[in-house]
Amino acid sequence: MTDNNIIKMYTGDNVPLEMHKARVVQKLNLPDIDKRFEAITEAGNNTFLLNNRDVYLDMLTDSGVNAMSDRQQAAMMIADDSYAGSETFARLENKIKDIFNMDLFLPTHQGRASENIISRTMVKSGSVIPMNYHFTTTKAHIVENGGTVEEIYNDEALKINSTYPFKGNINLEKLQNLIDEHGANNIPFVRIEAGTNLIGGQPVSLSNMRQVRKICDKYGIKIVFDASLLQDNLYFNKCREEICKDMSIKEITHAISEISDIIYFSARKLGNARGGGICTDDQDLYYKMRELLPLYEGFLTYGGMSVREMEAITVGLEETMDLNMINQGPQFIAYMVEELKKKGIPVVTPPGGLGCHVDAMAFLDHVPQTKYPAGALAAAFYIASGIRGMERGTLSEQRDEDGNETISNMELLRLAMPRRVFTLSQVKYAVDRLSWLYDNRKLIGGLEFTEEPRVLRFFFGKLKADSNWQSKLVDKFKEDFGNSL
Ligand SMILES: Cc1ncc(COP(=O)(O)O)c(C=O)c1O
Repeated sequence: MTDNNIIKMYTGDNVPLEMHKARVVQKLNLPDIDKRFEAITEAGNNTFLLNNRDVYLDMLTDSGVNAMSDRQQAAMMIADDSYAGSETFARLENKIKDIFNMDLFLPTHQGRASENIISRTMVKSGSVIPMNYHFTTTKAHIVENGGTVEEIYNDEALKINSTYPFKGNINLEKLQNLIDEHGANNIPFVRIEAGTNLIGGQPVSLSNMRQVRKICDKYGIKIVFDASLLQDNLYFNKCREEICKDMSIKEITHAISEISDIIYFSARKLGNARGGGICTDDQDLYYKMRELLPLYEGFLTYGGMSVREMEAITVGLEETMDLNMINQGPQFIAYMVEELKKKGIPVVTPPGGLGCHVDAMAFLDHVPQTKYPAGALAAAFYIASGIRGMERGTLSEQRDEDGNETISNMELLRLAMPRRVFTLSQVKYAVDRLSWLYDNRKLIGGLEFTEEPRVLRFFFGKLKADSNWQSKLVDKFKEDFGNSL
């Protein structure tokens, strides 16, 4: 077994031991429950609108908030600021070649910037882009350029509870049907996303990717691989996939590169820094994409990134090839999921990367989707714990043209696990407060909009509780916990 840092304790418990120690820390604040109630009310029950000073554990996202290593921080000191031809870029480019085995690299300021350049180059009106699952910004760029997105996942992908190890796999029959229906000429590429973000950080297998490649080769269709969540995916390939058991993390990465024509990534996730990039061996595509770089990003040797971040990415990518680095996130998530399951709390299984996903539809089965159960649970959890999670459900959808709600397939409270940031006792605290909330779930009611933006309403929208349920929750908390925060 590869998880040799999961230690059996004398008590019999299995615990994921951290293979790092904290040497720089950030002070945290846990406001009392009255302050938390006040803060979430001011934020319109929208966790995006909370001030971080009022948040104890920020589990909103893993984007740009992973812990850096000492080696990354040290590398930032030697960054070469030259506008053109910087040594920093040369180091990053070499590391990309080493890891992805691809010769051509375009730096961008973050993941969606890569998506902009790829979509402008490859998508046109009428294009159909098959993918395992969409990500919000990916879809927006494809649609912006006149294309449509077709999600071709297996049935298991949307099941909350499953033992299927690779929910991010592409359904090959659906891929073939799409090609037959639309014609290969209208399908410029298939997009495969590592660690599918919106369905619970679920991985795609190497064997599935190889099968997709075989089909694409028959029709001359390219493969674009979104490697933003690659580090979690690599961990799952290694631990869950027979053909990867004896491969090193770098060998698995090379095998993934082999099936890809383009690899792009958000370095806010992959590489544990902030930035992004596009890699390819396709000269024709490279030159076309390169023309857009000075227009949207910056010169070829920085692409909108700070050189300090580029140095951090170079080291971060190298460290990503270390199993004892990339295992931390998935192991902590698995620990949290298992602890919640023991208490009967509904969570997405199998555990994925990125974060722990609570099934708000089952947790609050008395709250209709039009009252945003996942949003209500996020607000209630903040009140109970000072922890900020993210709603991923109907509230994150957009109304249709007639103003009707678009009811989401799933209602999830996402509790992201930024890598190497939290301690196990902090995770235990999150589990404890969530189980208290579960025992008191009938106190939780729904939410109603007071300010509803037309586009991406989940970012800036404000809501109120549909009754005085939040005051009742505060009273019950005080009854059970007394003066404890
Ligand atoms: C799978 C995936 N692709 C693309 C992006 C966009 O990256 P960025 O936030 O750096 O623009 C993200 C961000 O969360 C992501 O998870």
